[in-house]
Amino acid sequence: MSKEPYDLAAWTSFIPESEIRRLLKYNVPYYFGGGKPGALPIETLAQILIDLGKEQLREIQAGNEERVIDDFNYGPTSGKPFLRKTLANRLIEKDNVTLPSDPPEDDVMITTGSQQALYAMIDTCIDRGDIILTTSPAYLGFLVPAVKLGAQIITVPTDLQGAIPDYFEEAIKLCKKELGKKPEMIYVVPDSDNPKGTTVPQKRREALFNLAMEHHIIIVEDGAYREIQFRKPREKPIKAMDTENKYVAYLRTSSKEAAVLRIGYSVFPPKVHEQINKDKGFLDLCSPTIVQRMLDIYYRDHIDKVLPKALETYKERADIMRKAIDETFPAGNRTDPTGGFFIWWESEDKDFDAKQFLEQVALPNDIIYVPGVAFYPLMGLSYIPERGELTPVERSLNTMRISYSYSPPDIIDQGIRKLGGLLSESLT
Ligand SMILES: Cc1ncc(COP(=O)(O)O)c(C=O)c1O
Repeated sequence: MSKEPYDLAAWTSFIPESEIRRLLKYNVPYYFGGGKPGALPIETLAQILIDLGKEQLREIQAGNEERVIDDFNYGPTSGKPFLRKTLANRLIEKDNVTLPSDPPEDDVMITTGSQQALYAMIDTCIDRGDIILTTSPAYLGFLVPAVKLGAQIITVPTDLQGAIPDYFEEAIKLCKKELGKKPEMIYVVPDSDNPKGTTVPQKRREALFNLAMEHHIIIVEDGAYREIQFRKPREKPIKAMDTENKYVAYLRTSSKEAAVLRIGYSVFPPKVHEQINKDKGFLDLCSPTIVQRMLDIYYRDHIDKVLPKALETYKERADIMRKAIDETFPAGNRTDPTGGFFIWWESEDKDFDAKQFLEQVALPNDIIYVPGVAFYPLMGLSYIPERGELTPVERSLNTMRISYSYSPPDIIDQGIRKLGGLLSESLT
């Protein structure tokens, strides 16, 4: 084999391609893979584009070209003030988030997707070897960058209500005792987690916040599915307790609630905000201005009118998937989402390998899901409460994340029943 005349960075040899990105290339009829939104307000967005374009033409004809040039230009790294203001108002009104800066929108930063905020958060707060505590399983778009950037990840078991604060507390104490240092960061998705679809109850949110205060750890609260909640009233974000903007980095995104326009919006404690802004400057200079204009109109005038319909669509799809699983899958357990895009299923057969089954049975039968193994870190430790120990990371191979967000109801019903039949044949 010919050798390249130059070396690639070390991480390229041990960080594989994202399992979800890899699976995106399969275009199968029964698609339960990536968390692609399937109920987007396309008519509203098309109308916003038309109105915006017409307004720009009027401005050009009136000789105000510089206003339109601004829409197509570089903007501030932290995002355009008009969009930050609109989103700040929404965070305050709908989610009781306190933004102590004056004006409050100074606490909101626009990023290129919340994925960029996650990456910049790790890049900014974590040195090689620093410990991050997170759930087992966890969003792979957080886990993989964290490993890439040298974090030591410790996973903590979850139940049907997601993160368990007592286990986090025990893990923090064990880190101090056995590894000689405290964790620097806790990463959680309290509203309809990716991958499990679980929602953390209020009391647990309070306990997690208290842990962060007591042990001086920053919580990264990823609210990607915050607006995609079928059950009302919603729990309050952990961020709502952080009235001084000190302990919680709150990450939100337009991707699920508006469209995949690559705009995230976050509230970081001021010192973190400053450094993330610097980092974002290196990553992409700024997020696209014209898209910020579109989303400003969407969040000011449309979201509350169109979101209820999308929520109905997702709820209907989740209900159909639940029923089809219950009627056709072999012995196992599933989660019961009250929002978000995913159901997590675990076979009772501990020897079942969902990744192998995907390659050998599901894909040839035109079905795609994401094997649960993708949602555990490549390396790191797991806290095992029964033994009070940290062990090399444990992964559950007998699990799968099944997404109901993208496919229409008849495809979900047929595809999940087909998958259930195939699983039952193989697991009896
Ligand atoms: C939990 C979670 N966080 C963050 C993201 C990234 O979203 P985006 O970069 O589109 O804002 C996703 C996308 O699926 C997600 O599920």
